[in-house]
Amino acid sequence: MKYAIKTIDLTKKYKDFLAVNGLNLKVDNKSIFGFLGPNGAGKTTTIKMLTCLIQPTSGTAEVAGYDIKKSPNEVRQKIGMVPQLVSLYKDLTARENVELCADYYGMSEDLKDTRIDELLELVDIKYAENKQIGQMSGGQKQKVSVAASLIHRPDILFLDEPTIGLDPTTKRILWDLIEELNENGHTIILCSHDMYEVEKLCDTVGIINQGQLAAFDTPQELKDQAIDQKKRGSGVNSILRELESESTLNKDPSFDELKNVIAKDEIEGKVDSKEISIMMSNLDEKLIDTIRSLPYVLKVTKDHSERITVSIYNVEDSINKLIATIIENNGKITSIHTKDPSLEDVFMAVTSKKNKGVE
Ligand SMILES: Nc1ncnc2c1ncn2[C@@H]1O[C@H](COP(=O)(O)OP(=O)(O)OP(=O)(O)O)[C@@H](O)[C@H]1O
Ligand SMILES: [Mg+2]
Repeated sequence: MKYAIKTIDLTKKYKDFLAVNGLNLKVDNKSIFGFLGPNGAGKTTTIKMLTCLIQPTSGTAEVAGYDIKKSPNEVRQKIGMVPQLVSLYKDLTARENVELCADYYGMSEDLKDTRIDELLELVDIKYAENKQIGQMSGGQKQKVSVAASLIHRPDILFLDEPTIGLDPTTKRILWDLIEELNENGHTIILCSHDMYEVEKLCDTVGIINQGQLAAFDTPQELKDQAIDQKKRGSGVNSILRELESESTLNKDPSFDELKNVIAKDEIEGKVDSKEISIMMSNLDEKLIDTIRSLPYVLKVTKDHSERITVSIYNVEDSINKLIATIIENNGKITSIHTKDPSLEDVFMAVTSKKNKGVE
């Protein structure tokens, strides 16, 4: 089986509202898939259809090789689910809740006890196994919810924002667990708004917006595409217009030379800009003005008494020249790094594009 999940024009309508709109998505078997999208984009609705909690209005999906409409019982045997809102019995203890799940899947008494012990240890909640859910903290409940979802060793585990509200240590326990499960051959579907979490864990990412798939690729590839788009987006005319509007820049003797470089690079599709964060122990307004007056510098923002962000045309050796200028002016650089597009930038670009003109 190549795909753990394959949706075919999967659609969910609530009255006239299309919560999920003809979704075509393929998730590789044994991968960790990050499912992203703004609030209300349709992630939970999609997951509810894939886990056979609700029926699609039209279209369908194959989960673990089974059709969700034709074989929901087979699908249920293959999947585990940690819902967005913890759904455990408040009056029962942690152990009793996991036991109920084991009974649902018809596990034998012997196997049940050993497996529950293992799972409660695995998610680090064994110490509170006899505590009632109603008396547990959010993070503790989440751990029980994860243990319950794993009782029947599902091939595919759906996690709908599982680390929301967890402290950094508990979050890491869950991340380690996700990686461990995946190494043991489980496919993970992870809904999350935490870009760090997604980059750290996921092999592939899908961004859904207004019920439709807006982007799908590896996190690295999505970021690389954002760099390419930025390059294409910064045409030579807009660059020159901006340069010429700065009267001080026109006085710079190297301006014509720079114009030629930008024009040449534009033909070759190489023009782009970059953000560089620089820390200096002796940063002052004079130095900032000097940097600002450099012809290839677009913008300088002071973030902190010792740090600036410089937006620069990334042409020829403009970054080298910037650093040389700082050193010539006795600037003492203590740290420097470039800011490439992050997954969050990709998310913003992909989801804001589609939102334009709606509402
Ligand atoms: N039972 C329902 N009846 C009517 N509309 C619903 C129902 N469930 C969800 N919706 C609507 O469908 C859209 C998608 O909701 P969904 O819960 O799938 O979003 P989500 O991507 O999971 O968002 P979040 O990041 O906030 O969890 C929303 O506009 C929501 O209001
Ligand atoms: Mg949701």
